[in-house]
Amino acid sequence: MAQVLRHLPPNREDKNLLVGIDYSDDAGVYRLTDELALIQTLDYFTPVVDDPYMFGQIAAANALSDVYAMGGTPITAMNIVGFQVKKIGAHVLADILRGGADKVREAGAVIVGGHSIDDAEPKYGLSVTGICHPEKFWANKGARVGDVLVLTKPIGVGIMTTAIKRGRASAADIETVSNTMAMLNRQAYEVFKDYEIHACTDITGFGLLGHCYEMAKASEVCMELHVNRVPMLENTVIYAEEDIIPGGTKANHLWLENVVRYAENVSEPMQHVLCDAITSGGLLASMSFEDAEQAVRRLQECHVDARIIGEASELQGATYIDVVL
Ligand code: CO
Ligand code: CO
Repeated sequence: MAQVLRHLPPNREDKNLLVGIDYSDDAGVYRLTDELALIQTLDYFTPVVDDPYMFGQIAAANALSDVYAMGGTPITAMNIVGFQVKKIGAHVLADILRGGADKVREAGAVIVGGHSIDDAEPKYGLSVTGICHPEKFWANKGARVGDVLVLTKPIGVGIMTTAIKRGRASAADIETVSNTMAMLNRQAYEVFKDYEIHACTDITGFGLLGHCYEMAKASEVCMELHVNRVPMLENTVIYAEEDIIPGGTKANHLWLENVVRYAENVSEPMQHVLCDAITSGGLLASMSFEDAEQAVRRLQECHVDARIIGEASELQGATYIDVVL
């Protein structure tokens, strides 16, 4: 998608457009007044799990996440639906929409409408509008040399959902990955906003390393990640060893091959987990070590699997991500 967006003409003539498509940010930010800016984003996709109610929750948590990643509060949402009622049944669609509505309510936002089209392959997602202060939102740009990086959810979701599709995942795997994806990034956002966040994004299609790279590039820094500190869903490395890897994950790995430097003992399956294209991943934030220590402690106390996974360092002629054990 980022590759296609690059061909759009720049929008810089509007001084109220604070974040557009320049740095692969999570959402657009548009200033309405000196105190108020609008955050706009949308996301929709085909089912990632079999349970329609769970799918609805996941799609909503994923769409809402881009507002949290910008440091904003979601206010309203609109359903985006592709569905064939005659083929699949109205009760399935009702369950999907109920899942989405429940998550939107949990986020403190409200569904104001939506649009559906007849589509043989079901799709669901939401367009979400949030608000923030026009000078206090978080972007990909802003990570500073000496910052540490905090991640708030485990990775490996894409590999795990592929294992589900291939009938390889256990019931426990399915439950864990579903709950991980359906979890809102609200708590992470609410804790982070008590600190000075220099840059923030959420981990989705580009994978952990891809989103790290986008943040590092926009911020003009390098980053070092410590594999052993990165939270990962159980069994994902094993599935990766068996080549249960989504196409998007392999594409990320290839895209990043000249900018990510893996230590010799980081295996290829592990590299794929680190590049795994994720749905509804956690927030990745760059901040001082002192702030990070406090934020991580508070998040862990409320059962969010947040960890310090790396740090930002000086540019080395170009942007590189070093991955060490
Ligand atoms: Co995002
Ligand atoms: Co998105």
